[in-house]
Amino acid sequence: MSDVIADLKQQGTQQLVHALRDRLARSQQRVEDVPAPQPEGRLSRMVGMTLEAEGIRLPVGGRAAIHTTNGTLLGAEVVGFQGERTFLMPEGKLEGLAPGARIEPLEQARRIPVGPALLGRVIDALGKPLDGGGPIRTAELAPIEGRPMNPLGRVPVTEPLDVGIRALNGLLSVGRGQRIGLFAGSGVGKSVLLGMMTRHTAADVIVVGLIGERGREVNEFIYDILDEESRQRTVVVAVPADQSPLLRQHGAWVSTTIAESFRDRGLNVLLLMDSLTRFAQGAREIAMAIGEPPATKGYSASVFARLPQLVERAGNGDRGGGSITAFYTVLAEGDDQNDPIVDSARAILDGHVVLAREIAETGRYPAIDVGASVSRVMSAVVTPEHQKAAFRFRNLMSTYARNRDLIAVGAYRKGADPALDEAVAMNPRLEAYLAQGRLDKASFEDSRRQLFELLGLATGR
Ligand SMILES: Nc1ncnc2c1ncn2[C@@H]1O[C@H](COP(=O)(O)OP(=O)(O)O)[C@@H](O)[C@H]1O
Ligand SMILES: [Mg+2]
Repeated sequence: MSDVIADLKQQGTQQLVHALRDRLARSQQRVEDVPAPQPEGRLSRMVGMTLEAEGIRLPVGGRAAIHTTNGTLLGAEVVGFQGERTFLMPEGKLEGLAPGARIEPLEQARRIPVGPALLGRVIDALGKPLDGGGPIRTAELAPIEGRPMNPLGRVPVTEPLDVGIRALNGLLSVGRGQRIGLFAGSGVGKSVLLGMMTRHTAADVIVVGLIGERGREVNEFIYDILDEESRQRTVVVAVPADQSPLLRQHGAWVSTTIAESFRDRGLNVLLLMDSLTRFAQGAREIAMAIGEPPATKGYSASVFARLPQLVERAGNGDRGGGSITAFYTVLAEGDDQNDPIVDSARAILDGHVVLAREIAETGRYPAIDVGASVSRVMSAVVTPEHQKAAFRFRNLMSTYARNRDLIAVGAYRKGADPALDEAVAMNPRLEAYLAQGRLDKASFEDSRRQLFELLGLATGR
């Protein structure tokens, strides 16, 4: 203002008024150009995993850093608010948090490294390397929420994808860009099957999201199940069960974001997410922590909204772009058909493959229950002859299954029912078709040819 006063001495009052107005207008403009600094806040309450802050004004999804008594910063994300109070979920361990701790707002969207620099690497939900392979050198960053895609711009699923598994290639053919559920209880061969697909699938890049598994299982998958060759074209995102629910949820988004970055380069990506159930449970924990009322089996409504939001990001891209074919494992214990996540997944995915414990117990792997599984895109990706052969196979399986008890107690007599006789005679060969060693590959062509041969059909297309 002192120079304004100097002006006053030099100029008349009229001119002064003009000069003042001009200066005011210019300074206002400058204030509008610069984003208002976000006010800092204080930690006021902590219940379980939920932190309550006062003073910050961040939107849901916004990030902040909390000053701990250890002198470190703990990242946290806004998950809700009530009046002046903001609810946050921590990204890391809840250590060194004291009442009144300073909370600094951070730059908006979280970005993670994406693209080829990640191939062969294992990272966590924050995009940090876990494999001791040094820092990930790339300038390519993407926000984990993804970007909306016009559903009408998507290329429809029309081409089969060779996944190297005979039962899938032959009977439950997978299409490029399809999203499939893999429903199974624990210990029935999910991880082994996913591992076989990483080795044998005709995809350019494989992204594996290991969400909410035990640490031991994560290690086993990376070091025993993946082999050296497939690891070179694979990116693993690992978020074990002991990590915060926020990170378990983010792990699924991060894997999807990485898959999208390769799809946008025109590549064909296989995305394997193990498991969708743990992602949903992470979302459930967050919803419960901020007081959202549960709807079905403790899952609140927002959880069911998150599932389609996640799986809609996979699939085919625009014309000329690449694809994301995705498998989401869903924990289905016993015959619990009422599990709301199983129901919801079945509704939003383009098919499901069921692994059955009874089958695993007989020692036939992969323990795929063909009758209970369906690929909704099969008719669009295979020839009518192939579809017909698969239908015939299913028919023989179900005839046998309907009479299994009769056969088991020795009440089956040959000659009474020709259809059953055929199903019984064929059964060992059908079972042999479905069985596949963990190191064996069955190409799409071989799977189809063997199916036709088995059923005594001309080896057509
Ligand atoms: N294709 C296969 N061939 C032989 N054994 C298998 C096969 N798939 C699974 N198994 C057996 O089943 C066990 C459990 O498999 P796993 O994939 O770890 O189950 P899940 O991931 O569903 O808990 C394996 O340790 C292995 O003994
Ligand atoms: Mg497993």
